[in-house]
Amino acid sequence: MRVYIGSDHAGFLLKEHVKDHLIEAGHDVVDVGTTSEDPVDYPDYARPVALAVASGEADRGVLICGSGLGMAIAANKVHGVRAVQVTDPEFAVLARQHNDANVLTLPGRYMSPEQADKVVDAFFGTEFEGGRHARRVDKITKIEKGEDA
Ligand code: RB5
Repeated sequence: MRVYIGSDHAGFLLKEHVKDHLIEAGHDVVDVGTTSEDPVDYPDYARPVALAVASGEADRGVLICGSGLGMAIAANKVHGVRAVQVTDPEFAVLARQHNDANVLTLPGRYMSPEQADKVVDAFFGTEFEGGRHARRVDKITKIEKGEDA
């Protein structure tokens, strides 16, 4: 898959690890930064990743900040993005199967590289189930468009 990845300073070290993990797994990875632990603002990295996913330039996105929360909030402002902050592989599976989540956010200050690998593998290795879940995801899209669900 083509994956866009980004982080702020608090997610930088884990971002470097996850990027290597994704490349080793065979993904085509585009890193939008940041490039060090010098303080930056997480929305500046959420935006390009979210736009790439929403436009179809990227199949999936990964965003890492200290908690993963700000990145999820910012990414979800872009229509077409369904970003989820996940710390447990079981929820990564559910986010894919039921919600067709297309952006994964991780908490760089609260997650080991080993746990991140498990969550990433679950997120990238699980397909959307469709069916009744597609009907519900379609209703999320209608909310974005200001239509009645
Ligand atoms: C930066 O200190 C921190 O606020 C940021 O990385 C993130 O956790 C915000 O949600």
